[in-house]
Amino acid sequence: MRKIDIFDTTLRDGEQAAGINLNTAEKVEIARQLEKLGVTIIEAGFPASSPGDFEAVQRIAKLVKNSTVTGLARAMKSDIDRSWEALRVAEQPHLHIFLATSPIHMKDKLMKTPDQVVDIAVESVKYARKKFPLVQWSAEDAFRSDPEFLVRIINQVIAAGATTINVPDTVGYATPAEYGALFKYLKENVTGIDNVKLSAHCHDDLGMATANTIAAIENGADQVEGTINGLGERAGNVALEEIAVALHIRKDVYGFETALNLHEIKRTSQLVSQLTGVVIQPNKAVVGKNAFAHESGIHQDGMLKNRETYEIITPELIGATVEPLALGKHSGRHAFSDRAISMGFELSDEKINEAFIEFKSLADRKKEITENDLFVLFTDQQIQSADTPVYELKNVQVQYGTDNVPTATVSVITPSGEETSRAASGSGSVEAIFNTLEELVEGKIHILDYRVTSIGKGRDALGEAVINLSVNDEESTGRDIAQDVLEATAKAYLNAINRHLISEDGQVKKTSVFS
Ligand code: KIV
Ligand code: ZN
Repeated sequence: MRKIDIFDTTLRDGEQAAGINLNTAEKVEIARQLEKLGVTIIEAGFPASSPGDFEAVQRIAKLVKNSTVTGLARAMKSDIDRSWEALRVAEQPHLHIFLATSPIHMKDKLMKTPDQVVDIAVESVKYARKKFPLVQWSAEDAFRSDPEFLVRIINQVIAAGATTINVPDTVGYATPAEYGALFKYLKENVTGIDNVKLSAHCHDDLGMATANTIAAIENGADQVEGTINGLGERAGNVALEEIAVALHIRKDVYGFETALNLHEIKRTSQLVSQLTGVVIQPNKAVVGKNAFAHESGIHQDGMLKNRETYEIITPELIGATVEPLALGKHSGRHAFSDRAISMGFELSDEKINEAFIEFKSLADRKKEITENDLFVLFTDQQIQSADTPVYELKNVQVQYGTDNVPTATVSVITPSGEETSRAASGSGSVEAIFNTLEELVEGKIHILDYRVTSIGKGRDALGEAVINLSVNDEESTGRDIAQDVLEATAKAYLNAINRHLISEDGQVKKTSVFS
């Protein structure tokens, strides 16, 4: 069976999605999980785009040993040099250079002629190959490019030393038949195409990314690029879990496989959703929470008689197994630490102790601590060191009655270490909290998006709040969890402000939203 390489770009194309901002500790945690999932390549970021991206790519390149780590670069020496600085420590340094090849991009965005684009592409690949043993070259907007021009430029970048050629459908415009035909055409017409890896990269604007990617594989693609949960610009990238499971379940038809450890899919999906704050739609293929739910009586009856009547994928395949017993306030440290290990967390004794204190305080208020609660608790502990608190919530109190104006009183510890309180009203409890916090942080803040969801089931489930806001035109996303959604809301707001004040590598870059 032919092996298809999986190139994960959750930390680069996925992170480009509106409202996502991951700090270095969170990116590292996702990279560690992608390595466990068994992806072939992790695109850890775009080193020249910001110091935060540089730092994250470098840390991931040092840490990850079983997947190749790459970074994105424009076709320019300064980007390639910066990427080399970040990636030279990797086991197998790999660079991903891109340059647009469609008429509209070349003329209106790059303002270059096709000949100039060929020269820039060739020069950049030659330059990169002086440093990197592996260089992937992407023809941005390849699908809307002239196929003959694609053949010409790809011939030349292969001759210049490119080791992988990526053919993206950047704007998600292709149909499966067309995208497959483009791969067939390139396979038949590019000189030396069999000596390089051919890669597909699909966006989901017309909801065809999965079908397009599979069509590319059927027509010669050796590698597929995508993200976990289909995160990405606009409608997102192809969801890698869908590709891997489709190839596995329908291997009778396709005859291809990936090296992914499918049992790690659920956990990877859950981690990415938690850290990005992007909720997975319930009916999402493979990882949605209803993907294995059978509601109608006829279906349930069929399932009881033979699961295969209505189930083509088992939850076990993707690691969505039956929850083990919940822990409670009488559970000891030993059982707690064993559970962390069985859930795949590698926490130091100090972190286990911290998590155990939080667990005990939660168990005083909540009867059963479920697997979902523990997942959130352990994950937060794992990434905590980078979340240096700048503003810290001390207390939030809300007065609400259907006939009264809601008023919030909030106390916080400010970056200078003082405790300070304010009160303000609003048209609802949440707005009253937002107004009070805005006075406390002394800034002009716009709330762009706000969501509250429950972690797990039951009336005493934990609440998670995610807030996307802008401070002086800079967007920031914060999230936090508490048993009360109003407390979670206040903490998520301050988390977003803190992320604005702290650089991605955990250093305090300013102590006030105006400085
Ligand atoms: O969609 C795209 O074209 C990209 C390139 C940078 C590969 O993400
Ligand atoms: Zn893309």
